This record gives sequence, structure tokens and C-alpha cells, in this order.
Amino acid sequence: MKDAAPQPVRPVRLAEYTPFPFVVEHVELWFTLAGAETRVRSRIRFAPNPAAEPAREIFLHGKALALQWARIDGADVQPETTPKGLTCPVPSGPFTWEAEVQIDPTTNTSLDGLYTSGGMYCTQCEAEGFRKITYYPDRPDVMAPFRVHIDSDMPVKLSNGNPLGDGTWDDPWPKPAYLFALVAGDLRAFSSDFTTLSGRHVDLNIWVRPGDEPRAEYAMDALIRSMKWDEETYGREYDLDVFNIVAVDDFNMGAMENKGLNIFNSKYVLASPDTATDSDYDLIEGIIAHEYFHNWTGNRITCRDWFQLCLKEGLTVFRDQQFSSDMRGAAVKRITEVMQLRARQFREDQGPLAHPVRPEEYIEINNFYTATVYEKGAEVIHMLKHLVGDDGYSKALDLYFDRHDGDAATIEDWLKVFEDATGRDLTQFSRWYSQAGTPRLSLTERFNDGTLTLDFKQETRPTPGQPTKLPQVIPIAVGLIGPNGDEVLPTTVLEMSEAEQSFEFTGLSARPVASVLRGFSAPVVLDRPLDNATRAFLLAHDTDPFNRWEAGRVLGKEVLTRMITEGAAPAPDLLTGLHRLVADASLEPAYRALMLGLPSEDDLAQTLFDSGHVPDPAAIHAARERLLDAMAAEMEPTLARLYDEMETPAPYSPDAEAAGKRALRSACLALLSRRDGCARAQALFAAADNMTEEMAALATLVRHDQGAEAVQAFYDKWRHDRLVMDKWFMLQVVHARHEIMAETAAALTAHPDFDWKNPNRFRSVLGGMQANPAGFHRADGAAYRLYADWLIKLDPVNPQTTARMSTAFETWARYDADRQAMMREQLERIAALEGLSENTGEMVGRILG
Ligand code: PHE
Ligand code: ZN
Repeated sequence: MKDAAPQPVRPVRLAEYTPFPFVVEHVELWFTLAGAETRVRSRIRFAPNPAAEPAREIFLHGKALALQWARIDGADVQPETTPKGLTCPVPSGPFTWEAEVQIDPTTNTSLDGLYTSGGMYCTQCEAEGFRKITYYPDRPDVMAPFRVHIDSDMPVKLSNGNPLGDGTWDDPWPKPAYLFALVAGDLRAFSSDFTTLSGRHVDLNIWVRPGDEPRAEYAMDALIRSMKWDEETYGREYDLDVFNIVAVDDFNMGAMENKGLNIFNSKYVLASPDTATDSDYDLIEGIIAHEYFHNWTGNRITCRDWFQLCLKEGLTVFRDQQFSSDMRGAAVKRITEVMQLRARQFREDQGPLAHPVRPEEYIEINNFYTATVYEKGAEVIHMLKHLVGDDGYSKALDLYFDRHDGDAATIEDWLKVFEDATGRDLTQFSRWYSQAGTPRLSLTERFNDGTLTLDFKQETRPTPGQPTKLPQVIPIAVGLIGPNGDEVLPTTVLEMSEAEQSFEFTGLSARPVASVLRGFSAPVVLDRPLDNATRAFLLAHDTDPFNRWEAGRVLGKEVLTRMITEGAAPAPDLLTGLHRLVADASLEPAYRALMLGLPSEDDLAQTLFDSGHVPDPAAIHAARERLLDAMAAEMEPTLARLYDEMETPAPYSPDAEAAGKRALRSACLALLSRRDGCARAQALFAAADNMTEEMAALATLVRHDQGAEAVQAFYDKWRHDRLVMDKWFMLQVVHARHEIMAETAAALTAHPDFDWKNPNRFRSVLGGMQANPAGFHRADGAAYRLYADWLIKLDPVNPQTTARMSTAFETWARYDADRQAMMREQLERIAALEGLSENTGEMVGRILG
């Protein structure tokens, strides 16, 4: 097929949705997996769609397919093909379409459609990969049952649904094409089984490369717990005889919820104590749950169109967060969710890529698998639950499953079940789906005659395409703490809906301190002028664990801001307040570890920018280092004691309690090595029997420029393990001194093991650069150039990953004129490339504004 001349790309718009003129009654596919000459034959039964205008021709998507022949009702047809699909006249009633195409999975480096990875065949079809497999109406509102035949000499052949034997699979549940999957390879299963509430027996298999079976044990355990949890919490049962998961090394994302055949990035399946960290175990548990929960929220009820992506993703993230919170403790989970939300979603929402949770147009839908759709989408549900209460939420969800099972639904459908189940009008609330940007909530307080008044104002700044904003409904969870530290008012939820609104608390005998936005009840930036002493009071006494942590975080941010802008010294209120908490044995170790964290350099840069300063990345880094030094000096004996006390006994166990102890121990180690010349880190590196501590020690050594030998030893030990080597690459970049980060990263990209076409490996180095902001923003622009060079190299090979990684530049407007010019120069260099992908073109265009 010849490339068409470049044309201005027209965005797809939500407002232009029209139903497909046909329904698909059944799909049957025959695959002959023969390397570069792979064949796909299809037989598809179409009928006119009674809900659409009748049509005399059909359009089927198709990309890079070599059509061999096509027939309608047995008679040869010659459809008109373009690079995007084909058009063919059709009879007025039902008809059967048959066709055969040839495709080449062996050269498909985009990892979208059918491709090969490490000798196995596998597919990725969300969002629009199925059109690279055969001609089809590749849109989520077209749902059909599938039967699939796989002809291949590979020993294991898998597809969706139930096995009929001999490489044939039948999926009785109507599904959109994006949930199609096929795998064939030399794989081994780690197997188990599960009996559902109503007695259905389900075979469970996790398919991995020979030898990796033991590393699938934890994922299996997480799967079984997820299946049970969804029955107990949502009344949702599994609906096939088998549930298969496959681990694949080359994958653009985390994992994919294909019906009955989830495909995972091997990073989120495989774990053993010596190769995976506590955080890997945590992620595996969460992602296994996420993909499994999609079976109901995504698969049984899918999206009408891709603008509704948050319908499945926001809800499924919310569900996996509830699950993880039940498994690992609510407070710690909530804090890590919010840290992640601020790091990724707030950053996006406050920059040129800001878009609504339900976007209104796109050029390339793959660019909208964002923190806004996923994480803010989950926060919106979190707020909805606050507003309607637990009971209302569970009634609404029951109604959702009842009413929409088998549908391709919309956000309107979703909100309607809440309105119908609870009687609440959600018209204003729905702005959370249509308005981009993070609302800023400011608070001032008055106390008079036993009455505390909270005066709130909300404001959302303009975002691209949305110059004016309307007030949103903001649930504000509030509690009051008396002067002696007792709670005088337990958490109540205030509902703010106006631009300015006041709330009164009467009958108070003394002025309390308000604890506001408890549990992070809404995804907003809270701006509340408060003196250090009051923040320290909340840090010591807040009865809401999230807000207690938040008090320390905000105090830390204010202290750092003054250190950066005024050259102030680290404030004693912060140092003594944190010290007291860290030493408090009544608090969980995981929580205390979080208390020792400081706001990230990126977060500080945004905060400085918001308050009218031009952030200097090196100055931010230096101030943070000084504060960490001061913390280490203040707490040294406590940290030393805790470092010994938090040692966990062998054998390693990934459970939350042991992981929490190791988290606190690692946090102590990082601070102590500012005092002990890295003696503890050296000893731990030599003695560690698990990857969590091995990595903690190595990171500390590298950070203090004492890592050369350890880095080599680690390489010699792990060079044959891909997942561990990803960590090795990343760690050296993240923890490199910022002055030499660019050279370190450049040297690593020249390393023979830098297999840049593998997304995990590519992300190790390039993602590591992003995680080292002082290095990334080095004044001479060396890191910007290196980063852009690699995006340019990857784009023709893997546009999806390139486009996603381009967000490293999304914060350019925060910085000084020189850095802005250098970043824009790189973005323009990319934008000007001949043959640049639509994916990257759209992203770079939006970032440049
Ligand atoms: N739908 C997947 C998930 O959230 C993510 C994904 C999107 C994977 C697109 C691959 C491609 O679980
Ligand atoms: Zn998902």
C-alpha cells in the first residue's frame, strides 16, 4: 500500500457520534500463524441496525492489511480500499461477509495489532489494533460473540472465551473488537482454580516462559483474592470456564483486560523475593485486580465510544483502589494514591495537555489513556460516593449492572443510575466530566462568640479550549479539633456548589482547629493560610490520618519554599514535629515511612510557579538536600534505633506489614547515610536477601557517589534477568548526581543491553531522566537534547510509547526563558520531522500550544 500525501488530520468529535448502520451477529476467525506470511480469514454475519439509518454500503476499518479476496453471501466482491479501510456495496437485508488478509506480525514493532515478542505471537487491540488484524467495524459499540481457530505449530494457542480444543475458542459474550486477544507460543502455566458463589468451576492459568512458573505464584494469589472480593463487595461473579493471563516482555502499557485472556506486561506478573521489590508486589496485586475487575466494568458493560473511556477506566481504578485499601490499609493507600494523583494528574491538569475526564475531541485516542481519564476519573467516583453515601453508591451500582449489562454505555447512563437510585440531581456534578483543570479552593476562617465560620472560594483557571469555568460541586470533609487535641466534631461532609460559600459551626466553647478536606475528599488544590504552629498542631493531633500526613506535607512545602525563595533555615516546627511522629510506635511503620517523605522536586517547581516564582531546578534540589540533611541530624539516634528495629526476619514475605517495616527501614537508611558515610548501605548491599533491600542499598550508594563497585556487582549478578536489569538501568539515572545525569543516561543508552525497542527498557532510562528533574533541566540543555534524540529514534518504531514519553516536556512554560527556548527548540525539532507519527505529532502540537 502506498502512503497517501500528508493531509491535515481532522479530529474525531464526541458531538459527531452516530451509531453504526449494521449489527454484527457473529464473528468467526481462522488464523494461520506463519511468520511474515500470516493469514487471517474471517466470516462475519451482519444485519441492518434497527437503531440507525439504513445504508447501502459498508465501511470496515483496516490498516496495513493485504486483502486476498472478499465475498458477500458467497459471491466475490471487489471493495474499494484506502489506507484506513474499505467500502463495499451490500444487500439491504442480513448478509455474510468473508475475507482473507495477509499480515506480517514479525515486523510489527508498534506492539499494536498482532505482533511477535520473544518468539511468541500476541495481540494488543485496545484501542484500535483490531483493524490491523482484519477488516472489521473496529468501534466499541459494535459487540459480537466470537469463535476463533488458531493454526500454528506453537504448543500453546489461546484466545478469548472457552476452549473447544485443538486451538479453537468460543466466546459467548458479545464483545467489542478491542477486547479480542490471541496468543501462541511455547508457554508454561502456573495453574489454580476457583469456584464462584453460584458454583461455577473456573480454571485459572498464568502463562509464562518455561522456568518462570514459580514467579507467577503471587499474581495467582492476587487473582483469587480479587475474584472473591468482587463477589463479596459488588456481587460480581466470573462468567467463563477459564481465566487466562499471559505475561509478555514487549508491551506498551501495564496490562490489558481482553475477555477471558488478560495480557500483562511481564513486569506486572512475575515476582520472586530476590527479583521483585515490595513496590512491585504492590503493583502486581493492584493491576491483577484492575484487569480482573474490568470483566464487569469494561467488558460486560463497555463504552459506546472512546470519549467514554473513563466510564470503564475511572470506575475500574476506583474499584482497584478500594480493593487495595481493603488488602493493605486505608490510610497508607490513600496517601500513596494522592501522591500519585498530584505527581501525574495535577501536573497534566495544570499544563498544556489539560483535558476533561471525558474529552470532546482527539486525533489519536491512544494519547488519552491519561492520568486525567484514569486517576481523576476515579476521584470523581470517590466524590460521588461521598455525596450519595455508601448505601446510595451500592444501590446505584446494582442498578448500573442490572440496567446496562451487555451495553455500550455513556457517562450520561452512568450518572442516570445515580440519579434514579438516589433521587439526587447530578446536573452540576456532571461538570467534573466536562471541565478540565484542577479547582483551587481557598479558605479563610473566622471565630466569634462560639461560632467558627469557614469561608470558601473556588476557582478553576483556564485550560486549552476552555477559557471560562463554572463552579463545581465539591464535597469537603471537615472535622474540628479542640485546643487540647481532642476531636470536638467528627468528620462531616460539606457540599460546596457556589463560587463562594460559607459554613458555620456553632456552640463551640473554645476556638477549634479545622481539619479540612479530610481523606482528600475532592481533587482540588487547597489554599489555606495557616501559621507553622497551627500546622504543627495538626501534624501532632489531627484524628484523620490522611490529613495528619498532609499537615506535614504542607508544612514541608512551605518550609522548602522559604528556603528556596528567602534562603531561610529548615524550620524547627517541622523537624521536631516529624521526629515525634517517626518515633511514635503506635503508628504503623508504613505510615511513618510516608511521613519521612518530602514533596517532590517537580511538585515544588509547580508550587513555586503558581506563586509567581520562576523555579530553579538546581536550587530546588539543593534546598531539599539541605532539609534532608537537617532531618538526618535532628533524628539520627531515632533513625539508627529504627533501622535496627525494622529489620524483617527471613524468609521474605511480601505482606503489607513486613513491607511497611522495610519501607521505614529504607527511609531511615537514606537519611542515615548522610551521617554514617554509607556504612550501613554498604553492609546492607552485601547482606540483603531480597530485592527491596538490595535496591534500597544500591540507590543510596549511587546517590552518594559510592556505587561504582556495587553497580558492577549487581550487573554481574543479574545481567540475565530482564526485569532486574530494567531496575539497574533506571536506578543509575534516577539517583545520578544531577550534574552528570545526562552523561550517565547517554552512556547507558550506549550499553549493549540497552534494547531500546523494548518499552520497559526504553522507559527505564528515559523515565529515569524524568524522575531526576534537576538533571533533566540542567542549564545547558544536554538532557533535553538527549531525550529528544531518543524520541526521534523511537517514533517510527513505536509511536504510542514515543507519544506518551513526550510528556516530559509538558512543563516547559514553568521555567526561565532560556530553558523554555531550549525545550521548545527540541519540541519543534520533533514536530518538523518528516513522517512523524500522528500520535507524537498530536502530543507535541498540544504541548507547544
Ligand atoms: N485498558 C488497559 C487497562 O487500563 C490499558 C491499555 C490501554 C492497555 C491501551 C493497552 C492499550 O487496563
Ligand atoms: Zn483499565
